Amino acid sequence: MESNTPILTLGVSLDSRSYPILIGSGLLRQAAAHITSLQPSQVAVVTHPRLAQWYAEPVGAVLAQQGIPVHLLTVPPGERTKRWEVVGRLLRQMAQRALDRRCVVLAIGGGVIGDLAGFVAACYLRGVRYVQVPTTLLAQVDSSVGGKTGVNLPEGKNLVGAFYQPSLVLIDTDTLKTLPIRHFRAGLAEILKYGIIADESLWQLVHDEAHWLRHGSSAHLADIIHRCCEIKAKIVSEDETEQGVRAILNFGHTLGHALEAVSSYGRLLHGEAVAIGMVFATLLGELQGITPQGSAEQMTSALRALGLSVALPLGVSHEELLAVMARDKKARGGHLRFVLIERIGQARLPMVVNEKEVIHALQVHRERFGRAST
Ligand SMILES: NC(=O)c1ccc[n+]([C@@H]2O[C@H](COP(=O)([O-])OP(=O)(O)OC[C@H]3O[C@@H](n4cnc5c(N)ncnc54)[C@H](O)[C@@H]3O)[C@@H](O)[C@H]2O)c1
Ligand SMILES: [Zn+2]
Repeated sequence: MESNTPILTLGVSLDSRSYPILIGSGLLRQAAAHITSLQPSQVAVVTHPRLAQWYAEPVGAVLAQQGIPVHLLTVPPGERTKRWEVVGRLLRQMAQRALDRRCVVLAIGGGVIGDLAGFVAACYLRGVRYVQVPTTLLAQVDSSVGGKTGVNLPEGKNLVGAFYQPSLVLIDTDTLKTLPIRHFRAGLAEILKYGIIADESLWQLVHDEAHWLRHGSSAHLADIIHRCCEIKAKIVSEDETEQGVRAILNFGHTLGHALEAVSSYGRLLHGEAVAIGMVFATLLGELQGITPQGSAEQMTSALRALGLSVALPLGVSHEELLAVMARDKKARGGHLRFVLIERIGQARLPMVVNEKEVIHALQVHRERFGRAST
């Protein structure tokens, strides 16, 4: 097994459900060997057509040479693919191909593929193994680790799903070379999130590397991805099903998810919505006297340096956002809950904020950060 750069390894510790995360450039060339070591009876590769050509077919060819039957199951790109009907279709395709309990589902793609294929793996024959090969920056630092799988309903995002851990996560940083820059930047928002909630030195590193990162590369990229996965792996190992500390990963997501929902899944990318939501939660924290004054300004300049906008989209009413936030999974009994920060590098567990204060913070956000400039 050769590779261009050292492979960084870490793990999620969950007793018998523990698994390794490998990070490096050129790792995809070793993917077949890692999958073979799981001794699968057959492999079902779930991916998008374009990614199939670039990334899945070469891995599939090596597996087939080793006598492992490979079934390529492609789905169209986009958030709309993450839905119930597509789960049913994939499950039927697997049943028609007589995949058995020892098969492995191989998810090659971004968060949409990872969430969908992971959920299919959780359901098929009451659970078969799956491997995550995340190919977007967001999936590499976030969605591929931690076992949250699922799909959207017309009534809301991620309303159906299961906590179901993968057997292995393989992160090949070379796949990011084909990722459109807008998606790369959206992933940077989640990276900055880790710095903000848990690691001030990561925040500083991202800040120092902003010029390079904004344009899609940095000599420190593998290290940055590793540090994000390390934070997520530690939190998930402590709190797999989000009874406590895992909730801090939702920093910026209360408003972020609402913005995604009102823009009907697609106008704003997940990371772009989270960028706006993080500034909002920081502002809310300032108004509550929990977050030091000036933190929202600081965050705004960091996000703009990464090529991200923090302005609330025009034409979205505060009442509409409030209604969606109250329906969110993170709300309890209609109360709005937000993860706030005590300072950059330190988040606290979610707290209830009343509607009036949320509306006021939305108004202040529009006044202060209305400019859409990056
Ligand atoms: N499970 C979790 O813990 C978790 C965490 C965060 C986000 N998510 C979910 O992840 C999803 C968003 O994921 P995403 O941002 O990766 O979007 P995505 O999966 O839709 O991928 C974005 C686009 O990039 C394309 N693409 C992927 N890899 C590529 C590559 N290497 N080169 C060129 N094109 C490539 C895809 O085809 C797609 O068009 C949302 O549904 C969100 O809810 C889940
Ligand atoms: Zn997210």
